[in-house]
Amino acid sequence: MMASSPSQAELPNPLRQGIRQERVPEPCTMIIFGATGDLTHRKLIPALYNQALERRLPPNFNMVGFARRPYNDETFQQEALNSINKFSRRRPVQPAVWDQFGKNIHYVQSDFTNPEGYKKLAETLDKIDEESGTRGNRLFYLSTNPDDYPTIVQNLGKVGLDKTKNSNSWVRIIVEKPFGFDLPSALKLNETIASVFHENQIYRIDHYLGKETVQNILVFRFANSIFEPLWNRQYVDHIQIIVSEELGVEGRGPYYDESGAIRDMVQNHMMQVLSLICMEPPSNFEANAVRDEKVKVLRAIAPLTPDDVVERTVRGQYGPGMINGEPVPGYREEERVPPETITETYVAIKLFVDNWRWAGVPIYLRTGKRLPKRTSEVALQFKPVPHGLFSQPGEPPIEPNVLALQIQPNEGISLKFGAKVPGPTMNIRPVTMDFRFGQSFGVAAADAYERLILDAMLGDSTLFARRDEVEQAWAIVTSIIDGWKLHMPPKFPNYEAGTWGPHEADELIERDGRRWRRL
Ligand code: BG6
Repeated sequence: MMASSPSQAELPNPLRQGIRQERVPEPCTMIIFGATGDLTHRKLIPALYNQALERRLPPNFNMVGFARRPYNDETFQQEALNSINKFSRRRPVQPAVWDQFGKNIHYVQSDFTNPEGYKKLAETLDKIDEESGTRGNRLFYLSTNPDDYPTIVQNLGKVGLDKTKNSNSWVRIIVEKPFGFDLPSALKLNETIASVFHENQIYRIDHYLGKETVQNILVFRFANSIFEPLWNRQYVDHIQIIVSEELGVEGRGPYYDESGAIRDMVQNHMMQVLSLICMEPPSNFEANAVRDEKVKVLRAIAPLTPDDVVERTVRGQYGPGMINGEPVPGYREEERVPPETITETYVAIKLFVDNWRWAGVPIYLRTGKRLPKRTSEVALQFKPVPHGLFSQPGEPPIEPNVLALQIQPNEGISLKFGAKVPGPTMNIRPVTMDFRFGQSFGVAAADAYERLILDAMLGDSTLFARRDEVEQAWAIVTSIIDGWKLHMPPKFPNYEAGTWGPHEADELIERDGRRWRRL
């Protein structure tokens, strides 16, 4: 007997296949230090509101802002509403969702150094627990100037807010970047936080890990069997990781001038992406299993010697130029940036992961501000075929295969390969096979902060940087910064805004007979 075909209603919805049941966090309160700052308004409050909209926040979720400005609950609620109206991914604000969300927003006004402020905070949290049934579950969020982190953490410890109320409740703390300024300061900061909070309470946030496409690196590699066998030194010629931005420093001159591109982007976001690309498969998807493998990659990157720094790094700083047809000032002319500054706004680096899988495969990183377009991607270029069956004398060699993982915008994955041009001759031309998230899933990706804050509420630290990862990344980056200190910087500015960076960066890769990808 022929099996009858399933009716439409019985067919599984391809968009829902494999979707796991979502967990909703337990009732809790999130306390934001630096509640009146830019990150809170642009990212944190809109992220929480969007989660409320999608019913992912726990029932009776409460938020407490802690900052110096003279607000009260009502004025802070109004500020929060303004932020949502301005920055939320989904607008206009839905009154029913806002009514529920907004009424549970509170404010504690205090200087970060004032012990009274922390006592007031403890009282406010106890009252919320009583009224809302949040049971002592607390998520602290450090979104202040990093100089304030030690003061806040120690004061929380002094009033016992680091401790859980009972065996069923939890207390966690999210720490924003920059996590230290160099290796010694990162070690010190880790020590200070660890003197109050246990490592499993600490969530070091890197918003790149909250991006869908960055998480998809793991899925692509470990949920498919066809790519992993090629993912090694035998087949991969080199890897390029690029994060290019059109934006300049956007009013953040004082912060950026202390950081530069290497601290702002390489130490955190790019090292995280690199470790996901190069890690070994973990034995399971538990937070520590994943992070154990990531940190091994970072440990396999030897800090650069001063000679390596000269040979394998290039610094750049933008001068005036054009972005999207509009003139823009040079970095030295940006607001609150010293006119003689030698801070880099661009960096290109060649690294090696010295292990069995990757020995000898160069990994080229480049990132910069005021480049011609915003794009972040990782590309693996494969080795050429061993024998050029179709090569014609006098013609350029056939282009190598490239697998490009596009992190943003236009999120997706493309594979370049050679195909025969239709016709009587054996002409080969590169073509691409493309996957685009938007087309295949038809939903816009949520903001990275939405996912990460929720994970912290759920106690899942897989997508947060562990202490050893941060320290190891700093060890690599600090070796470069130290090497730079030994040599005069290049004559800055050395690239025009709206161009792809200094020509020395082209030389860095062309010396090896390779080229930056055209983006
Ligand atoms: C931040 C940096 O961490 O990341 C910024 O401080 C940078 O300078 C930003 O612009 C880039 O993030 P995204 O998500 O826009 O790629």
